[in-house]
Amino acid sequence: KKLGILISGRGSNMAALVEAAKAADCPYEVALVASDKPAAEGLAWAAAQGVATFAQSPKGMAKAEYEAKIDAALREAGVEAIALAGYMRLLTDDFVARWRGRILNIHPSLLPKYKGLDTHARAIAAGDSHGGASVHIVTEELDAGEVLGQAEVAILPGDTVESLAQRVLKEEHRLYPRVVAEFLCR
Ligand code: GRF
Repeated sequence: KKLGILISGRGSNMAALVEAAKAADCPYEVALVASDKPAAEGLAWAAAQGVATFAQSPKGMAKAEYEAKIDAALREAGVEAIALAGYMRLLTDDFVARWRGRILNIHPSLLPKYKGLDTHARAIAAGDSHGGASVHIVTEELDAGEVLGQAEVAILPGDTVESLAQRVLKEEHRLYPRVVAEFLCR
């Protein structure tokens, strides 16, 4: 199956997906890495790996026009499913409808807890015993689609947002390729 990945920055989850796709038994190949930020670190990494990349800044255009360009690039690359990996833009209902059930996202909380931003800070402030990450299907409602898999990480005494985020991120890199592979085989 051909996977497209949307990023906005560092792209460490994208890199984990690209690395996992090198295994002979991996059910997907990364057909395109696209970014709304032409300078995204992850974009240069993907290009250096020989993965096709596409950059499109939304500056100066209507959201529908920007998304049409992303959509066209994905379809041209033959993409069948999309993984959002630190893509920091909300997709329009129209885009979600056109890719219904075929967009996944990784979110750094144990959904349904802490949708949106600042997830680790909110988990620490609430005194939660665990934080973590979830992979879910993207629907029109933010971080609310069916959860396909989660990784739990204990919150330790003295944890800061940074220390917790670092441990959760490590688990994200294991979780995302596994869940994407399972999803594409189901
Ligand atoms: C990750 O924490 C992911 O859960 C969230 O954004 C961050 C992206 O990091 N959606 P990276 O760009 O994959 O390194």
